[in-house]
Amino acid sequence: MKIGKFEYNKPLILAPMAGATDIPFRNLAYELGADFAVTEMIMANSLIYKNPKGFQLMERGKYDNPFIVQIAASDTETFLKALPHVKDVGADILDLNMGCPARKIVKKGAGSALLREPDKVYDIVKAVKDNIDIPLTVKIRLGWNNEELTYKEVIKNIQNAGADAFTVHRRTTSQAYKGFFDEDIFKEIADMATIPFICNGEINTKEDIARVFKLGCDGIMIGRSAVKHPWIFSKDINEPTIKEVYDIMKRHFKLIIEYYGEKTGIYKMKKFYGSYIKDIKGAKELKFNLMRINDYNKAMSMIDNFFDDYWSAYE
Ligand SMILES: Cc1cc2nc3c(=O)[nH]c(=O)nc-3n(C[C@H](O)[C@H](O)[C@H](O)COP(=O)(O)O)c2cc1C
Repeated sequence: MKIGKFEYNKPLILAPMAGATDIPFRNLAYELGADFAVTEMIMANSLIYKNPKGFQLMERGKYDNPFIVQIAASDTETFLKALPHVKDVGADILDLNMGCPARKIVKKGAGSALLREPDKVYDIVKAVKDNIDIPLTVKIRLGWNNEELTYKEVIKNIQNAGADAFTVHRRTTSQAYKGFFDEDIFKEIADMATIPFICNGEINTKEDIARVFKLGCDGIMIGRSAVKHPWIFSKDINEPTIKEVYDIMKRHFKLIIEYYGEKTGIYKMKKFYGSYIKDIKGAKELKFNLMRINDYNKAMSMIDNFFDDYWSAYE
């Protein structure tokens, strides 16, 4: 698969996830084997109106190569006004969000609301493509709901308008994150694709990855399972040992503290403790205690003590 000068063989991609795929998590995913990642969604308006939050989200991490920035807006003009800012930060690829189902986004006509207007999708993609000199990708869903499955027309328009690749999450807006279309839909889309096509949605295991690649897609994007099991990107780790989980959790924690500092970092890490320890026997109390600790060294020694005891008891 080739997007501009970036070339991959069956890449595994970390999905953009607001509130989760910040620089530390992207770094962890890269270290474990992800081929590339995308920033969290940035509202074009936040860049136009110089909201610092938008610019913070548009920061390149040390492994972001390519550095892919995702922006969202409801109309061509707003997308175009944000482009100089994307250029200023040196993005290598621009991704347009046309898949977000969040009410506050779709009620403004942005995210997946655009799937209801395939002609507008064409106009936006064409105008953006004509006004940037980096590759352009688009992330969509299948449509608004089962009665409005617009993906065929939308994909045709994205391709005709000159996009360099596209990603499809196999759900509709009304499905949000529950229920999904059969994998066969990926095959149907792969057959229509004239540019690289990335599959997304409920691809949760190494077996899923192998099966979905056989349907003819060029890349696979993984979202929530990457948060639950970041080793999904690893070529070496299949079922991680407890020691590997411990090492990955510690590494993630360190990356978070290095990036945010202790005060904010410890708060950010609270979102992730559960993913690492929820399946470990006897770890419920550890999680309970960690959620109440705001000191990095204390949290780390609590983790170390738990795992030391665990190893002497079970291994
Ligand atoms: C908490 C959360 C935040 C998300 N934020 C974004 C986002 O900023 N941009 C985007 O394109 N998709 C976003 N998504 C959608 C994911 O990129 C992905 O399409 C979706 O989770 C389906 O993939 P999965 O089944 O592998 O999780 C988000 C999903 C979740 C769960």
